[in-house]
Parts: sequence; C-alpha cells; structure tokens
Amino acid sequence: MKQKYIYLLFVLITCFTPYTLLAQRIAILGAMPEEIQLLESQMTHIKTKEIMGFQFKTGILNGKKVVLTETGIGKVNAAVVTTLIIKEFRPQSVIFTGIAGGISETLKQGDIVIGNRLTYHDYGRLTNDGLSTNATRNPITKQQNPLYFSSDSVLVTLALAASKEVHLQKMSAESSQPHITVGTIVTGDTFVTSSTAVMNFQKTLQADATEMEGAAVAQVCWQLHVPFLVIRSISDKANEKASVDFQTFKKIASDNSASLVKEILKKI
Ligand code: ADE
Repeated sequence: MKQKYIYLLFVLITCFTPYTLLAQRIAILGAMPEEIQLLESQMTHIKTKEIMGFQFKTGILNGKKVVLTETGIGKVNAAVVTTLIIKEFRPQSVIFTGIAGGISETLKQGDIVIGNRLTYHDYGRLTNDGLSTNATRNPITKQQNPLYFSSDSVLVTLALAASKEVHLQKMSAESSQPHITVGTIVTGDTFVTSSTAVMNFQKTLQADATEMEGAAVAQVCWQLHVPFLVIRSISDKANEKASVDFQTFKKIASDNSASLVKEILKKI
C-alpha cells in the first residue's frame, strides 16, 4: 500500500515538474565574443559559473535549458572547452555557432553551412609533395577515428527544418537573401587567406567551408559519444581578400549563424 503511494507521488511530481527543470542542457559554443553575443543577449535566468578561468553561462533560450560559452580561437582551445562543458554539464548535445571562410564557389558572405561532416585540413603526414591528411586516433580505445566526423543526423534534420523559418540578414541592401546549405567543413589552426589553399581543400577534401574549431569540437564529442552540430555563416572566401572581408562581415555572419541556432532550439 505504502509503495503504491510512493509510486503515485513519483508520477505526480514527474507530471507537474516543468520540462525546463528535468531536461538536460544544450551546450552552445562559439570561438569569439561576436559569435555568441546575440544568443547571450536573448538568454534569460542567466547564471555564470567559472571553471578553470572559463565563464560558462547557464540559462533559458527559446524555452530550452542551455549553457553558453566562448572557447577562444583554435583547435586546442575548442577541445579544452568542449571537454570541460561535457564533464561539468553533461549536455544532451553540443552546438557550435560561428563564422567561416567559404570554399565552395556558390557560397557568399552571410550564407550558412550546416556542417554535416567535419575534418582537419592540417592533420596528417608532411611529405615532399605536401600534407597527406590522415584520420586521428581515439587515445582511450586506440581505435582510429573516422576521417570525417559526422554531425548528429537528427540535429542536421532539425537545422534544415529551422532553415525554412529563420530570418537572415542580408550583407547589404543590394545583396540577395542568404542561402542555407548542408556541407563539409574543414578545420585547421590557420586563418586561410590563399586561393591556392581554397582549390586544394576543394580538390582533396571536398570542402565547402573552412574554420578553426569545428573538427576539434566534433572529435571530442565523437570520442565522448555526445551528439553535435556545427553551424557556420560565411564571413569571407578564404582568399587574398579574406582578412578585410572578415572584419567587414564578421558581425552579420555571426548573427546569421546564431539566428539559425535559436530557431533550431525551438525544434529540439
Ligand atoms: N573563419 C572565418 N574566416 C576564416 C578563414 N578564412 N580561415 C579560417 N577561419 C576562418
């Protein structure tokens, strides 16, 4: 009899506890302040937790429990923060938002790439003919990781659905409305300003966009079995004009990526 009451109490508590209290958080990462600014400005119930010098902001965004942080630029910083956020907050998934250099000719500034697979462009064997890229290895299982880390297919599907509803900013009054595509993102510890590198990434890795953190986040999530998604908006074309274009377009591109992430949250 007593057991029956305990069970009833459990059912009642479960039914009447708001979803937001029970759900696991969604971790959202960006490398630079600009990349997370829009999301932070729209979060409510913000609390800041400092871990090893990094500031993790927990709160609610579009009705979902999130934890948001800035990783800093580059693969090592991204890997450190991804590991910390998974260890500390046990998120249901990790979403990276930010900007990238466009590799595919069809991409222009402000467009978005939903990264369905990510790889490194600077990991492998350096030979007289240049770099021969290689897969990484999981240091715990000793197994080789896949050469391309696949984003979570459910999150990619939700991102595509969110694409139909999101409002993106145009780069100028004369520009066309930004497009959203699914594609391959290549990551390395270099800001790419070379049309030779662009052609090489296209030919050898079938890259659509390049940036400096995505595959590192993907590798950590892959090895720790956490679903992930990388969203990037194009700030430049990774060519000789990239440094100037990056400065001009980084804010709008950052906000376009963040806007899509907000729309994805509604669908999770
Ligand atoms: N992020 C934005 N533009 C980039 C570029 N050209 N190279 C690497 N990372 C970037």
